[in-house]
Amino acid sequence: MEKTFYLEYLEIIRDFKNYLEKRMGRKPSANNKALLLEKFYEEIKNCQKCSLYRTRTNLVFGEGNPEAILMFVGEAPGKEEDLQGRPFVGAAGKLLRETIKNLGIPEDKFYIANILKCRPPGNRNPRPEEIARCLPYLKKQIQIINPKIICTLGKFSTQNLLNTTRGITYLRGQKFTLPNNTILLPTLHPAACIYKPYWREQFIMDLKMVKEEIDKITKT
Ligand code: URA
Repeated sequence: MEKTFYLEYLEIIRDFKNYLEKRMGRKPSANNKALLLEKFYEEIKNCQKCSLYRTRTNLVFGEGNPEAILMFVGEAPGKEEDLQGRPFVGAAGKLLRETIKNLGIPEDKFYIANILKCRPPGNRNPRPEEIARCLPYLKKQIQIINPKIICTLGKFSTQNLLNTTRGITYLRGQKFTLPNNTILLPTLHPAACIYKPYWREQFIMDLKMVKEEIDKITKT
């Protein structure tokens, strides 16, 4: 069956289920976030809004639990991510995923995405015009997932989600509350922490804060 048709089919079933539940006096089920994300991916997978589409192998949409209470937001896919179409699967991803695991944050508690969906050639920094085109995609993912905690990794995701130009070494380790009450905890980008033990310590401390916030939420 063609994928878009299949998604429409699932959506009709979901709407019908919600209709029946309403008629029976039950609260309609929560929106199916997985389906909404899947549909959104279909919408943007051939994006050509900036020149990065010319050099990408894959658009890296994001992955994880669509119902997660925690969302990690990185910068942009690197070489390995571009090849595999998955976020944080290279060296920085190894550090991130190992740290998360060591702190006891289970895989089903988070979703990972980036501010840019396509790899900048040679892993150069994202350009303002690329961020301007791609940021609405991230915002839509955040809107669908509606996480209680966002952990931004590095300067670009932090500054853009907080709408500030302050440096990441100043912002990291602090707790921010967004207007919709989502908690935002910035940390350093894991790629910067690979060869810098002092930064790595700070990165681990910041992720401990993330774990504490999850514990607070899940124990109340
Ligand atoms: N760095 C990022 O910011 N994102 C990735 O997906 C990989 C490396």
